[in-house]
Amino acid sequence: MALRAWRRCQLPVLLALCALPGWLQETLQITPLCTSERHYKHLGRCCNKCEPGKYMSAKCTTTSESVCLPCGPDEYLDTWNEEEKCLLHKVCDTGKALVAVEPGNRTAPRRCACTAGYHWSEDCHCCRRNAECGPGFGAQHPVQLNKDTVCKPCLAGYFSNTSSSTEKCKPWTNCTILGETEAHHGTNKSDVVCSSSLSSTEPPNEPQTYLPSLIILFLFISVALVAAIIFGVYYRKKGKALTANLWHWVNEACGRLSGNKEN
Ligand SMILES: *[C@@H]1O[C@H](CO)[C@@H](O)[C@H](O)[C@H]1NC(C)=O
Ligand SMILES: *[C@@H]1O[C@H](CO)[C@@H](O)[C@H](O)[C@H]1NC(C)=O
Ligand SMILES: *[C@@H]1O[C@H](CO)[C@@H](O)[C@H](O)[C@H]1NC(C)=O
Ligand SMILES: *[C@@H]1O[C@H](CO)[C@@H](O)[C@H](O)[C@H]1NC(C)=O
Repeated sequence: MALRAWRRCQLPVLLALCALPGWLQETLQITPLCTSERHYKHLGRCCNKCEPGKYMSAKCTTTSESVCLPCGPDEYLDTWNEEEKCLLHKVCDTGKALVAVEPGNRTAPRRCACTAGYHWSEDCHCCRRNAECGPGFGAQHPVQLNKDTVCKPCLAGYFSNTSSSTEKCKPWTNCTILGETEAHHGTNKSDVVCSSSLSSTEPPNEPQTYLPSLIILFLFISVALVAAIIFGVYYRKKGKALTANLWHWVNEACGRLSGNKEN
């Protein structure tokens, strides 16, 4: 059985092999199978479908091929087809916040999308306004056309003090770069506040450099004051005897010191 079938096939195959290779390819693909997307069976034959951009104005007959005609303006067909008419492009209604993102042509449909700031909602089959991210949150970038906003909490070092459907969290101001100092820390909802006045630069340094010298000065003055008072009181009591006593005491001390050295 198989052998006989093979023999029956052999003749046309050999003939085809002798003919043009292009013709061979077509014959093998089209005529015996007719399963290709680009062909259809009609009146017991395998005929060509119409290519994208054209519709079928007449099917094939036993003697003629299909008749295909181009789609009109504002019409399209995007497949190999047997359609009697082309499809009409849809309208992107600006009143419904729609805009054409692909204009479409004879072979491809027009594609509509929601305008910037809106996204397509399957619930209402309409465009909805994109959600806003409140303070402390920022919109994830890049903002995708036709997609609702994705809000992310601001990370440490970033803030957002507005409600916006497009703005990202902004980085805190770097006071160091501005040659200023941080007067107020930043939060996720507020920026760092810088201060340019030098007095606010000092607080961390002041206690270290000024305080000890102030204490020393205070102690010195106190000691001097106490000494002056004691001296004054003593002098008034003992009068000029003090001066003599002091001289005597000093001489004695010096003599003792030199005596110690000699020993
Ligand atoms: C038709 O539009 C599609 C998609 O926009 C594009 O890929 C194709 O090249 C266009 N065809 C013509 C003939 O302009
Ligand atoms: C912002 O910071 C506050 C205080 O640290 C915190 O409670 C809050 O959850 C933060 N908000 C966000 C969106 O991260
Ligand atoms: C500020 O900028 C300087 C210099 O670029 C950098 O060294 C420092 O870490 C920054 N400070 C903050 C708080 O980002
Ligand atoms: C948000 O922060 C910026 C930068 O610090 C500031 O200029 C702006 O006034 C703030 N806006 C609001 C609404 O607080």
